[in-house]
Amino acid sequence: MGLLRRYFNQTRKPEGRLGGLMICGMNSGHARLADWGMGHLPGITPQEIMELGCGAGRNAGELLKRFPGARVTAIDYSPLSVKKTKEYNKAMTACGRCRVQQCDVSDLPFEAGSLDLATAFETIYFWPGLERCFAQVAKALKQGGYFLICNESDGMDATGRKFEQIIDGMICYTPEQIEAALNKAGFSEVTKEHHPNKPWITVLARK
Ligand SMILES: C[S@@+](CC[C@H](N)C(=O)[O-])C[C@H]1O[C@@H](n2cnc3c(N)ncnc32)[C@H](O)[C@@H]1O
Repeated sequence: MGLLRRYFNQTRKPEGRLGGLMICGMNSGHARLADWGMGHLPGITPQEIMELGCGAGRNAGELLKRFPGARVTAIDYSPLSVKKTKEYNKAMTACGRCRVQQCDVSDLPFEAGSLDLATAFETIYFWPGLERCFAQVAKALKQGGYFLICNESDGMDATGRKFEQIIDGMICYTPEQIEAALNKAGFSEVTKEHHPNKPWITVLARK
C-alpha cells in the first residue's frame, strides 16, 4: 500500500505515527461540518450525551459548551483517539463532565435507556454494519432521545466515491440508506438535511 493510501486509511482508525499526523488535522478539518450539523439539534437540554467515534475530541468539547448542564461520554476504538480526546477535554475530564472510553460502537457499554443524545460525526462510514450499530445506540438512548449523524459525503458525490476506493471498508451512505437502517434499528421521526451547496448531510432520528 502506498504512503498516501496508508495515510488516508488512518481516518478509519488512527494509530502509530501516520495516525498521529492524521489526527492532528481532524479537529480543524471537521469543525465547520460539525458546527453545521450541531445547528440541526432541536431545542433540547440533554443531561447525558454520548459522542461516538470522537477522533481528536473537539466535538465532545463543543457539546459540553453547547449544553452546560450535560455530561459527555466520548468513545472511540482507537487508543490514539481516546488519548487525544482526553487531552483536548482535560479540564472537563478533571471536573467529571467528560469521560472518554475506548470501545467499539458495535458493543456499547451503556446502561439501556440511560442517555438523552448520541452524536456521530464523520464516522458511520467505518462502522461494522449500520443496523447493528444503530441498534446499540437505540438501546442506550432513553425513549424520546435523539441521535444526530453528520457526514460530509451524501453517498453520491465524487469525493466520497474516490475515498471509498482509497480507504478500506469505507462506505458513503445516502440519507435514504441511513434512514432505512435507523428505522430497522428502532428509531422513528427521522429528519434529513442536505447542505445547499455541499454534499454535507445531517440525519436526526428520535427513539
Ligand atoms: C474520520 S474520524 C472522525 C473523528 C471525529 N468524529 C471528527 O468528526 O473529527 C473517524 C473516527 O471514528 C472512529 N471509529 C471508526 N469506527 C469505529 C468503531 N467501530 N467504534 C468506535 N470508533 C470508531 C475512528 O477511530 C476515528 O477516530
